[in-house]
Amino acid sequence: MGCSGKRGGNDDPSFIYLGAIQSTSPLFWSSLWAVSRSRFRPIRRAFSCFSSTSTDRRHVRKRPVNARHSFAAMTQDVQGHDLSGATTEAVTAYDQAVRAFNLVHGNAVGLFEEASQAAPDFAMAYLGKAWVFALANDPGLMTEAKALVETAGSLMLNEREQAHRAALTHLVQGSRAAAVAVLDRHLMRYPFDLVAHQGAAVTDGFLGRFPWVRDRSARALPFWSKDQPGYGTLLAMHGFGLEEAGDYTRAEDESRAAAELEPLSFWPHHTVAHVMEMTGRPEDGLGWMAAREALWSSPGHMNQVHIWWHKALFHLELGQHHAALAIYDGPIRATQRPVALSLTNATALLWRLDTLGCDIGARWRDLAASWQGHADGKCLVFTDIHAAMAELRSGQEALVERRLQAMREASATTIEAAGLYRTVGIPIVEALAAFHRGAYLEAVELLLPVRFDLWRIGGSHAQRDVIDWTLTEAAVRAGQRDVAVSLAHERLATRSRSAPNRRFLRHAEAIPD
Ligand SMILES: [Fe+2]
Repeated sequence: MGCSGKRGGNDDPSFIYLGAIQSTSPLFWSSLWAVSRSRFRPIRRAFSCFSSTSTDRRHVRKRPVNARHSFAAMTQDVQGHDLSGATTEAVTAYDQAVRAFNLVHGNAVGLFEEASQAAPDFAMAYLGKAWVFALANDPGLMTEAKALVETAGSLMLNEREQAHRAALTHLVQGSRAAAVAVLDRHLMRYPFDLVAHQGAAVTDGFLGRFPWVRDRSARALPFWSKDQPGYGTLLAMHGFGLEEAGDYTRAEDESRAAAELEPLSFWPHHTVAHVMEMTGRPEDGLGWMAAREALWSSPGHMNQVHIWWHKALFHLELGQHHAALAIYDGPIRATQRPVALSLTNATALLWRLDTLGCDIGARWRDLAASWQGHADGKCLVFTDIHAAMAELRSGQEALVERRLQAMREASATTIEAAGLYRTVGIPIVEALAAFHRGAYLEAVELLLPVRFDLWRIGGSHAQRDVIDWTLTEAAVRAGQRDVAVSLAHERLATRSRSAPNRRFLRHAEAIPD
C-alpha cells in the first residue's frame, strides 16, 4: 500500500486506528501505543533526525527500518513528520502554511489550499485548514471545518494525522476538552508537532486553561534544539502560558527572546504586551508597541486588531480616552475581520469607553450589525457575551432576548458548554442587560457569584477583565459603597497607577456611608 490514495477497507493496516480514533479512553491510547510501537518512529528516533536543519534533507526520507510494510519514500514537513499524500511541491506550500498558522502572519488558509490543490490526497493540507477555521469559533467557519475533517477522513492517514482528525472531530462538535485530551497525549509522542501545539493551546484558551499551554510546551522544549526551525514558536507558547499563570518575569524574558527569533510572530509580541498590561506598565507597553510597530502592523498580520486593542488598553490605563477612541476609529475598524473573535476586540474596547462616559455615537449600531451571524448562542460563551454588549448598547434589546433564549436552549442540551452557559454565560448576559437598563443592583447581584468561575469562559485575564470592570462600575452606580470600594482596592492592588482603577476608587469613596 502506498502512502497516498484513498483509505482501504478492513485489511488496511491503518484502519484499526481509524475505527478507534474517536475514543479518548486510556485503553485506546495504551492500545494505540502498543500497536504503533512496532510501526512508527518513537520520540527519540524522531528527535535524531532534527540534528540537521538542512531543508534539502527534510522532505524525502525513508520509512523507519522496523516498519512492517514496504513504503515508498515519504514526504516530510520541516519538523520531520511524515505527510500522507504529499508531494515535494505541495509540502513547500504546506510548510509555509504551518508557519503562517503558527506566527498568525500570512495567508495560512490560502497556502493550505495551495498545498491541497498541488496534492489532492494530502491529508494535513485539509486538516491544517480545518484547524484555522475551527479555532475561529465562528458558526459559518465551523461548518467549513467540519467538511474539511470529513474530506480528510476519506484519505489515507498515518498515526499523527489520525490524531489530528480525531481532535478536530471533537472540536467541530463543540467538544473542546476532548479535543485537547487527544492532542495532549499526542504531543507526548510528537513533541515537534507545532500544528498540534497551537491547536491545543488555542483550544485550551477557549476553556480558560492557558496555564496548560505553559506545561505542555515545557515538557516538549527539552526535546528541541534552539536552532531547530520552529523553536521560537514553541518558546513563545511557553512564554504566553507563563504569563497567564502569573509568572510575569519569566514570561517577559522568554517572550523577548522568542520575539528576537521570530520577529514577525504575533505571540511573543503579544505576550510582552500582556505582561505590561497585567503589571501596570502602560508607558512601557506603548514603548514596546511603537518600537515594533512595523513588525506587527503590516498587512500580513492576521490578528493585528488584537494588538491594536492592547495598545488602546494602555491608553485607557493612562486615562487617554481620546487616544483609545482614535485607535478604535482607525486601525481597529480597518483591521478587524467579520469573524467572532476578531469582533470581540472592538466590542470590549467600546464597552469600556462607554462605561467611562465617552460619546460612542453611532459606533455601537455599526458594530452590532457586524456581529450578526457570528455568535449563535451555542458555540462559545465568550463571543456571545461580546455580541450581547453590542446588541444592548445599539438599542437592540430584542436581539439579546433572542440570544438569551438560544443560550437557555444550549444550556439544556448535552453539549460540552451547556453547564457553562447555564452557570456563567446566561447570568453574565442577564447582568449586562440589567446594567444597560440601569438596574445596577441586579447586575451586581448577578455578577458577584459568577466571578469565581469567570475563568471558564476562556480568553486571557486582560480580556475577562471587562466583566470585573463592569461589576465594579455597576457597584459604583448602584451606590453599594462596600462592594465598590472593595473591588476598587482589589484592582489597585495589582495596578496601583491605573487611571480607571483610581477613578473607580474615587467614585466608590464618594458614595455616602
Ligand atoms: Fe491579548
